[in-house]
Amino acid sequence: MAKPVSGFSKKTKEEKINWLVSTFLEDSPTSISTLKQYWNTDEKLQKLHDGFIENTISNYYLPFAIAPNFLINNRIYTIPMVIEESSVVAAASNAAKFWLDKGGFTTKVISTIKNGQIHINFFGNDKYFQDFFSEIRPTLIESISDIERNMKKRGGGLLDISLINSTKALEGYYQLHCTFETQDAMGANFINTCLEEIAKTFESLSKSYSVFVKENKYPEVAISILSNYVPECLVRATVQCPVEALSTPEIKGKIFADKFTRAVAIAKVEPRRAVTHNKGIMNGIDAVILATGNDFRAVEAGVHAYASKNGSYSSLTYANVKDNVFTFGIEIPLALGTIGGLTSLHPLVKLAFDILQKPNAKKLMQIVAVAGLAQNFAAIRSLVTTGIQKGHMKMHLMNILNQLEATSSEIEKATSYFKDNTISHSSVVSFIEKNRS
Ligand code: MEV
Repeated sequence: MAKPVSGFSKKTKEEKINWLVSTFLEDSPTSISTLKQYWNTDEKLQKLHDGFIENTISNYYLPFAIAPNFLINNRIYTIPMVIEESSVVAAASNAAKFWLDKGGFTTKVISTIKNGQIHINFFGNDKYFQDFFSEIRPTLIESISDIERNMKKRGGGLLDISLINSTKALEGYYQLHCTFETQDAMGANFINTCLEEIAKTFESLSKSYSVFVKENKYPEVAISILSNYVPECLVRATVQCPVEALSTPEIKGKIFADKFTRAVAIAKVEPRRAVTHNKGIMNGIDAVILATGNDFRAVEAGVHAYASKNGSYSSLTYANVKDNVFTFGIEIPLALGTIGGLTSLHPLVKLAFDILQKPNAKKLMQIVAVAGLAQNFAAIRSLVTTGIQKGHMKMHLMNILNQLEATSSEIEKATSYFKDNTISHSSVVSFIEKNRS
């Protein structure tokens, strides 16, 4: 059994790899060359990547792709996407093209307020706490004036602090609920720095507050942290067209609209379907979030919480037909940044912003919402017509052929054969085997 290692982060990259392969990996030369084949030959660039996290030993590549032809509020965008799933970019591009001659996507940022909480334990008299908070509130706000200075210049900063009595949910539990505007920054560091400073001031003032001293019962800060649930940082994206315009040679617009709205209605009421439905939306959203160096875990957590806002997990999109007009839309919380974090560090992230014509955070929210809506449109369209596997496996065929180390002539033959035949892992294997024998 391997022994624990101490002082690991202080070791050089080579030392870390040597320790790893000698401790856990049997075929050391292969493991080492697998790790090293992804090192960048440009040392400066490699150093930059090494610095993003601790104990970096290699780089993990994902494809960086583009989905063209997105018409958003009358402007054409090409959307950069980073994702491993074979059919996602193709699906996004198809949806973009479908809506291109139907007015494209319309978007609107509804609000951009972020929030964080100082969670507090207090087992004393509620009235004393409320009085204390009213008295110290201006001092709490003043305590972050230095931290806020630059953010204020950019039009952001702390918006409000309120005291919330949550003792019904948990005995002795209070919160200082703080709201923020962070403009083009995602704002996590800014918010957390403000919260910790406010918490420090709060605790120090409470120690000398005469009523608490007399009672010998002081509020105590449990934790201070931003919330990734941002239902006040909301964006909407929609597509709309007459039902007839949905017609294709394969299906009449009216039939398509009925099937489509029914599929969304099912995802509205059935959480098992809603989770997969929303997963498809996140295929598009995460891919743009990754390409633009934003925090996809934060977005995922916030979006899924929003999907449960009415007490049951439900679809993030809605669809209806009114007066013969088909409407399909999404409303989601997105706390995104176009400055700070990786945005100015990672060369591909910078390029992604150039491709997007240098959006600010609000624009990025709109583009990301569109990517989610487009992805959901493409998925439901396939699900209610051909089924999902046809398009998915078409894109996946190349992965199977690569796995089988197919030659270019085998790839050519397989691609042509599987144009009219069902693709599955076993059907591709047997096609290649037959070909080889
Ligand atoms: C696959 O990654 C995503 C889908 O399952 C989404 C959906 O079912 O709506 C196709």
